[in-house]
Amino acid sequence: MAFVVTENCILCKYTTCVEVCPVDCFYEGPNFLVINPDECIDCALCEPECPAKAIYSENEIPQNQKKFIELNSELSYIWPNINKKKDQLKYAEKWDGILGKIKFLEK
Ligand code: SF4
Ligand code: F3S
Repeated sequence: MAFVVTENCILCKYTTCVEVCPVDCFYEGPNFLVINPDECIDCALCEPECPAKAIYSENEIPQNQKKFIELNSELSYIWPNINKKKDQLKYAEKWDGILGKIKFLEK
């Protein structure tokens, strides 16, 4: 079991989540972060830190976000690690809560 970053992170990328992860298992793409499921120790510390409420436990993930389980796994082996907070994306507040952002996911 692992935690999963879901759609509402896209185009927001607040990165507050990475500061609390004890095993540094976040990986960064251009406009999205993912969690490596093999490294995540299921501690749940990151979930309340995300202002966009984009992080879920794999067993509580909404039905329409299930594709993100596979995406986190796949992309975490391609993207570089991130363990320091950086500025959120420029229009993060505008994009927060917008549905259908998966079409803007940059790999
Ligand atoms: Fe890191 Fe814990 Fe979040 Fe997993 S649940 S990504 S180990 S902070
Ligand atoms: Fe994304 Fe939330 Fe982390 S928006 S970068 S999962 S704090």
